[in-house]
Amino acid sequence: MWWPPLLAACLAWAGEAGAGQPEPLCSSRGLCRAPARPNASVPQPGQCPPQRREADMCAWPLSSDSLRDPFPIDVIQENFVRNVRNCIFSVVYPIPFKSRVRLVAVSKEVLENILDLDVSVTGTSDFLQFVSGRKMIFGSVPLAHRYGGHQFGSWAGQLGDGRAHLIGVYTSRNGERWELQLKGSGKTPYSRDGDGRAVLRSSVREFLCSEAMHYLGIPTSRAASLVVSDDDVWRDQFYNGNIKRERGAIVLRLAKSWFRIGSLEILAHSGELDLQRKLLDFIIQEHFPSIALNDSNKYLEFFSRVVSETANLIALWMSVGFAHGVCNTDNFSLLSITIDYGPFGFMESYDPNFIPNTSDDEGRYKIGNQANAGLFNLNKLLQALKPLLDPRQKQLASQILEGYREIYYIRFTELFKTKLGLLGENEDDSSLIAFLLKLMEDTKADFTMTFRQLSEITEDQLKRLHIPEEFWALQDLGKHELFSEWVTMYLLRLNHNKGDCDSKRRKRMTTVNPRYILRNWMAESAVQKANLNDFSEVHLLQQILQHPFQRQQAAEKEGYSLRPPAWAKDLKVSCLS
Ligand SMILES: *[C@@H]1O[C@H](CO)[C@@H](O)[C@H](O)[C@H]1NC(C)=O
Ligand SMILES: *[C@@H]1O[C@H](CO)[C@@H](O)[C@H](O)[C@H]1NC(C)=O
Ligand SMILES: *[C@@H]1O[C@H](CO)[C@@H](O)[C@H](O)[C@H]1NC(C)=O
Repeated sequence: MWWPPLLAACLAWAGEAGAGQPEPLCSSRGLCRAPARPNASVPQPGQCPPQRREADMCAWPLSSDSLRDPFPIDVIQENFVRNVRNCIFSVVYPIPFKSRVRLVAVSKEVLENILDLDVSVTGTSDFLQFVSGRKMIFGSVPLAHRYGGHQFGSWAGQLGDGRAHLIGVYTSRNGERWELQLKGSGKTPYSRDGDGRAVLRSSVREFLCSEAMHYLGIPTSRAASLVVSDDDVWRDQFYNGNIKRERGAIVLRLAKSWFRIGSLEILAHSGELDLQRKLLDFIIQEHFPSIALNDSNKYLEFFSRVVSETANLIALWMSVGFAHGVCNTDNFSLLSITIDYGPFGFMESYDPNFIPNTSDDEGRYKIGNQANAGLFNLNKLLQALKPLLDPRQKQLASQILEGYREIYYIRFTELFKTKLGLLGENEDDSSLIAFLLKLMEDTKADFTMTFRQLSEITEDQLKRLHIPEEFWALQDLGKHELFSEWVTMYLLRLNHNKGDCDSKRRKRMTTVNPRYILRNWMAESAVQKANLNDFSEVHLLQQILQHPFQRQQAAEKEGYSLRPPAWAKDLKVSCLS
């Protein structure tokens, strides 16, 4: 293989697992960067000649300095499991796989629009080495974050990045700051009993779902790439003593910030208040620019923001029937984005008791309890902030938290009104929504397709209670004895929409009610093929879920908008990732 001279210097292979640090990808920063647009042909002064660009990652300005410099770093550099104190991060290098690795999926949009890389870079060996943790960008020191958290209601002490490495921060062309993390890249001081790996099954699910959530318009971490190895990883997937061999995989995932409620909790719990202040000020400065650092109420303002954005996020989850599955404080982002995709699931037939994690026997994180779980987590955040607040501020913070329910309720109602195509205000809107949800619950109508088909059916068809066969979810709903009453109410309400007409309503509703979501059976089918090295369905789903609101032939052919197949009913969600 031929390499441009600039790269030749950086192609030394890293040693095997444990044999020291991965090799830096480059010996020094290069001069060029990917073109602004693919195929842009005019090289800027100081940039590489066009033919070299595609292979050029040396020039790519990734660095962890902006996270490493402001904070004390773990004084111990050896990589062994331990209790860590007085720091936010430990320096720790990914542990490369022993076997061959293959790049099996990438998100072109993330690479080009966030990372400013030409997608052709994915054909290079450098890229593969980079996204599988074998090589680092020169000067970007990998970090594992120390955090704690409340898991399933109890304080769990130190948790931390047990199989993830923050490999750098990238500031995109449009000035956005993104933190890059490998997940499944080996043990860290925070691995507890874990092996630091992620299996292909859960990595495919995270890769597909985080991107799908983005295209549904829900704040989320993103996924740039998925690599699979032939390294054995052993998992008891259903906690039933049946240990199976699976393959290790790594997702390169991105978020504006990976700090969690648990990031602050651990500092409060161990009394490291100066460090806690420092971290809070950092987060406020970087991510809440409208809060002034010299404002004596800054932490209160910050709390207020996290309260309303968390309410917003959970309302958004509910609007697409998404159940996160592990709403622990360490899996809840301080920026209120969806992070840590594990045993998540999209609800099929409407059921407030839907539990995606089959081992969550008590249903603590069932879909209908997510808003409460959010409140619980925000209360833990408040407890963590209290040592930094004066008595008056503590009182105000409690009042802010009391406002959470209302913020959630208002947002939820807004979203569901939009889903039903309702314009303006009407005092009966909440009852109209609740009535529909009750009918759906009683008839087990499909959540996604009920709303979608209401977006596609004409007012006239509804009026005549004539539901064509293709509207299978509405036909299920129509079996309810109160269906015609709800329809009458709904049609009456639609008449109150000002300046509206039926085609406008349908058009509006189809832009907010997805036709395709990542149903569990779809993910499972893609995973089963992936296990046999057939990634075609991963790619197909990735394509389709980029346009969840648009009817697509390929999706229709696969039956993605049809009634789920019979086998889907008995599907258990893979819990252990
Ligand atoms: C805070 O800083 C801003 C800008 O630096 C300044 O204009 C303002 O007066 C300061 N406020 C306080 C309360 O010190
Ligand atoms: C949530 O956090 C815990 C503790 O760090 C971790 O073990 C678990 O894997 C996380 N959940 C998901 C879905 O990633
Ligand atoms: C699923 O729920 C069980 C029971 O509460 C819990 O022990 C387990 O960690 C959960 N699974 C994941 C992946 O979080």
